[in-house]
Amino acid sequence: MTTTQRRSKRIAIANNKGGTGKTSTTVNLAAALAEAGFTVLVIDLDPQANAGRRLAVKPDSHLATVSDVLKALAERPNADLAGCASDAFTEIGWPAPYNEHIVLLPSRTDLENRATLEAGQLGAVHRLDVALDGADDEFDVVLIDCPPNLGHLTQNALAASDAALCVMDPELDGIEGAIALRDFIKSNRNKLANSQLEVVGYIVNRVDTRTGAHKFQTEESIPEAFGEHLWTPMLPERVAMKDAADADPPRPLRALGRDGQAMAERFAELARQLSERVGLTTSAAAGVK
Ligand SMILES: Nc1ncnc2c1ncn2[C@@H]1O[C@H](COP(=O)(O)OP(=O)(O)O)[C@@H](O)[C@H]1O
Ligand SMILES: [Mg+2]
Repeated sequence: MTTTQRRSKRIAIANNKGGTGKTSTTVNLAAALAEAGFTVLVIDLDPQANAGRRLAVKPDSHLATVSDVLKALAERPNADLAGCASDAFTEIGWPAPYNEHIVLLPSRTDLENRATLEAGQLGAVHRLDVALDGADDEFDVVLIDCPPNLGHLTQNALAASDAALCVMDPELDGIEGAIALRDFIKSNRNKLANSQLEVVGYIVNRVDTRTGAHKFQTEESIPEAFGEHLWTPMLPERVAMKDAADADPPRPLRALGRDGQAMAERFAELARQLSERVGLTTSAAAGVK
């Protein structure tokens, strides 16, 4: 991983199980960090392109994407393309203050083909790192929304990141996905040339305490498995989360009334923990209590 004088902290948000809330967490943590005055680059590294859609970026076949960035690096191995990710940075569609603080590196479905084409190629796992080198200097934090697997794209995110953040739901599959991520990082961080990489936190999302199994998992199994790395508060299942994501155009949680505000406050608390645990710095950091 390139670390020369970089102020920004890069965080890969992952779990190989789908539907746990990786994208929701990426987008809403970005919103909370923006509210606190941080500048945020969101990288949509899932071919489903959900993060971009939820940040109200309209699909446009002319928009440069992370796929184009990786392609350039694959096709021109001898060119100096360090930092070329910035060629694909785009504005988000949310209103101020969010659009003043959050920038998107968008995705598109063809990213799936690119990943298939490049997986296993020598050095391909470091292309995102190279593409970001220098390009993310202007940001305080980079949040990378990973696809629901531990394949080539997630490995690119892990190779480029200072830390991983895991989002799980309180079900056996979600917890197993979190353990798989933790073990994968331990076994492979040297191969990813990122020997210091750790899961800095586990966020539990979609908790419904009326479900007996959720109550048991959140009160016993999850604290036992993840200890001090478990972040609080856990996030409840709330309609506002879906309504914000599925509105036309998609909106930040704070636009969704009382339930939306309450969820946004929970993300603000998680953003404070992220800031403390990875040491985010910004000239506006005084805004984060
Ligand atoms: N806390 C929550 N309450 C209600 N719905 C949620 C919550 N978190 C996520 N969702 C919804 O669940 C679905 C999956 O979430 P998403 O963030 O896309 O998961 P992932 O990126 O891990 O696949 C989406 O429809 C999202 O709006
Ligand atoms: Mg997702």
